Amino acid sequence: MPRQLVKTHIALIGCVCLCLLGYLSWFESQAQQASAQTARLDFDSPDSLAVVVNKTRPLADPAYIPAELHDAGGVLLRPEAAGAFGQLSAEAAAAGVGITAVSGYRTAADQAHIHESYSASYGAPTADGISARSGHSEHQTGLAVDIGNADGSCALEPCFETTPAGAWAAANAHRYGFVIRYPAGATTITGFAYEPWHLRFVGTELAAELHETGQTLEEFAGFPPAPSY
Ligand code: DAL
Ligand code: ZN
Repeated sequence: MPRQLVKTHIALIGCVCLCLLGYLSWFESQAQQASAQTARLDFDSPDSLAVVVNKTRPLADPAYIPAELHDAGGVLLRPEAAGAFGQLSAEAAAAGVGITAVSGYRTAADQAHIHESYSASYGAPTADGISARSGHSEHQTGLAVDIGNADGSCALEPCFETTPAGAWAAANAHRYGFVIRYPAGATTITGFAYEPWHLRFVGTELAAELHETGQTLEEFAGFPPAPSY
């Protein structure tokens, strides 16, 4: 092989190696940043915006009551969530989409009552798939809000996703720090059927991450699936 060609080959191989090394070091730094963010978040304290409550992770205090609750369109939410919900509903309204707040903070007793009522109507197994037992509901943290379409159509039904409110929330809620906590196809992880109306406030940074990756809170936090109690 002519000497010039050999030099060109060596230079090319050198370039490829440098690019590969650059990519690997960028990839590693991204992974480190992501795991640093995960490590920073508190998934345990009910006062944390990132708390993970599910069938295997009950609230440590079953009678937990948030320190402060504010009005958010007729329901009560933690101040951070209430402020964000106010912005979300105002911007949706400005875009011609009416979003109502159907249910927010619920006491342990409220949640027990709802679960008992579903159990009486549909039987315990069905109730457990759509309603959390007391002490296991995000609604008790004051960080979850069930939303409705202005005309009440498809209320608490999977078809809520096809209403203007449901479609707008799916596309935009993360910009205000909310995620659809029980996505379609994730029942084996979250333990609950698809609830396109149940928005959980986690803050804008985490909401953006979950929206982009399509991960549930359990997956993001590295927790095992929680299909049952
Ligand atoms: N429907 C949700 C899972 C709750 O009861 O908290
Ligand atoms: Zn809900």
